[in-house]
Amino acid sequence: MKIFHNKTELTHHIDDLKAKGKSIGFVPTMGALHNGHLSLVNKGLSENDVVLVSIFVNPTQFDNHEDLAKYPRTLEADVSLLKTVSDETIMVYAPTVEDIYDSNIKSQSFTFDGLEHEMEGAFRDGHFDGVGTIVKRLFEIVKPNRAYFGEKDFQQLQIIKKLVELHNLPVKVIGCAIHRALDGLAMSSRNTRLTPEHRAAAPFIYKTLKTAKTKFGTKSAKYVTEWVEMQFETQPLLELEYFIIADTKTLKPVKRKSTKKTYRAFIAVYAGDIRLIDNIALN
Ligand code: PAJ
Repeated sequence: MKIFHNKTELTHHIDDLKAKGKSIGFVPTMGALHNGHLSLVNKGLSENDVVLVSIFVNPTQFDNHEDLAKYPRTLEADVSLLKTVSDETIMVYAPTVEDIYDSNIKSQSFTFDGLEHEMEGAFRDGHFDGVGTIVKRLFEIVKPNRAYFGEKDFQQLQIIKKLVELHNLPVKVIGCAIHRALDGLAMSSRNTRLTPEHRAAAPFIYKTLKTAKTKFGTKSAKYVTEWVEMQFETQPLLELEYFIIADTKTLKPVKRKSTKKTYRAFIAVYAGDIRLIDNIALN
């Protein structure tokens, strides 16, 4: 498996592959890889000649120093896991912070037609400027044909689609379904940091989303939201940060339901110190 730590070597290799007419699928990650990431890699392999996985804990998208410091960094295990999928057709780009940012570790400022102000944008200061900065930079370095993003971070996926549209970037963005543990918890690199008690409590999040979906068939968004808020009051180990039913396209909270629109429920929950997010399509 080819592993690159700097962009010059990577760019040479990519140019070679492109000259040979090979298509490149790209899966940007922050590492601590799990089966959710692998589902993106596998989709990439099914649609491209090779897949490049980037592994980079991007400092500019963290608004919390401790979260950045404690984010798991497990490059060796990540490479081993990727090798179980394919040694030949997967490459890894694991740059240093300097390779990406030089000495200027700063975000560019973006607008994404208002998508950036909702939910994660409202609760995590500067988060989507950081995500926009790194993903645009990586797209420029990697020049992929297709890039794969999970619906686990549905708002991020919509924002990357908007980034590509607004900046005319020559890449096709492909969304991939949420991969879950058997008990329903959405897979996340942060799950490894849950205490056993919090891990046992966490499947309540998806269970509640599924019931909320059923209720949304006949009840208003306000009713369902209040119902979810009440459910979390019975959970001493889980603290609800937000539950929001939003328009799938604009991500604005729904005021009055329309049969012409599609909606999604979004949730953020603290399990101890660990922040977990999830979402579900409602119609
Ligand atoms: P990270 O959290 O490592 O996720 C990398 C990609 O894997 C994202 O597109 C994410 O949505 C997807 N993913 C994570 N868990 C998933 C799951 N359970 N099912 C399906 N897909 C899942 O998202 C980031 O990194 C960063 O913000 C990044 C885009 C790399 C920019 O730094």
